[in-house]
Amino acid sequence: MSYQITYYGHGTFGLKINEYQILIDPFFSENPSTQIKPGDLNPDFILITHGHGDHVGDAVEIVNRTAAKVIANAEIAKWMGDKGAEVFPQHIGGGHDYPFGYVKLTQAVHGSALPDGSYGGMPAGFLITTLDKKKIYFAGDTGLFAGMSLIGEEDVHLAVLPIGDNYTMGPDDALRAVKMIQPQHVIPAHYNTWPLIAQDPEAWKERVEKETDTAVHVMQADTSLDL
Ligand code: NI
Ligand code: MN
Repeated sequence: MSYQITYYGHGTFGLKINEYQILIDPFFSENPSTQIKPGDLNPDFILITHGHGDHVGDAVEIVNRTAAKVIANAEIAKWMGDKGAEVFPQHIGGGHDYPFGYVKLTQAVHGSALPDGSYGGMPAGFLITTLDKKKIYFAGDTGLFAGMSLIGEEDVHLAVLPIGDNYTMGPDDALRAVKMIQPQHVIPAHYNTWPLIAQDPEAWKERVEKETDTAVHVMQADTSLDL
């Protein structure tokens, strides 16, 4: 058994675990990297790391059209619930079992205001344990923080880390993050969406693979990978 991950550019990913479709930070209509429209997708669950517009994205439109349930911190869950979503509020450090696996919210060092200015609580990452016990860490938007070494004690199979700099970790700190998390696989994210976060992911891959045992997968937008 394995899982499939799809990259839609920026911080937006799809996960397929068994028959379940999960979307992480569904940013499509204003995402210049993807050809996919929010109407193309029918997820079972939507996970939202934090309140910023490039992460909440098209979540409201998708939940109003589909049966997708939202997993997020309590503040974002409340905001999405008020817009008609079925929600599962969690908070940092807490985990919950879902049909596709166990989801724990992790710390992220960032902001989280929602698009209308509402308070979005603390930003988060997600540590997802699939049904066959593989752990996938979505860091979300974050700077480097010392607690990443605690996540590194969890035997992480795949880490998704921002490398764009300016709003999040840049390539140097993302390399330090890989050394702390020690995942088998890493996918860089949150870069090249706009000129302000332009990066060379192939150069980063070369550095990471020279200095660590982690395999780097530089994904083109709208492509999938079986892991
Ligand atoms: Ni953000
Ligand atoms: Mn962002």
